[in-house]
Amino acid sequence: MTSDQIDDLPSALRCIVYSSTQPHGLSQAALVALAAAAAAYNAAHGITGQLLHMPPYCLHVLEGPAEPVENLFAAIQADPRHHGLRLER
Ligand SMILES: Cc1cc2nc3c(=O)[nH]c(=O)nc-3n(C[C@H](O)[C@H](O)[C@H](O)COP(=O)(O)O)c2cc1C
Repeated sequence: MTSDQIDDLPSALRCIVYSSTQPHGLSQAALVALAAAAAAYNAAHGITGQLLHMPPYCLHVLEGPAEPVENLFAAIQADPRHHGLRLER
């Protein structure tokens, strides 16, 4: 999606892009559990997006209805697995 297309999203939709690091890494088992829980939560709340995970960095795009996306981002900000979390957009 281009930045112009993002700007045209209806105001009820929210797109958040953040970056962070996981300096201690995430084990394969932790990643599998995280992906399953995140997929279920995101689908139940109409949230889509893309997680680019290049240890120790990650770049995550989240989009969907504003309130669920903001609630999820608050949970992500409180998750101690994220270090140096930066809101990119
Ligand atoms: C790299 C990374 C990406 C994450 N992405 C999501 C996600 O897309 N959806 C989700 O529900 N949780 C995701 N989580 C997990 C959340 O940070 C958090 O643990 C989860 O929402 C549960 O929060 P709670 O314990 O406050 O309920 C992610 C965690 C990490 C480390």
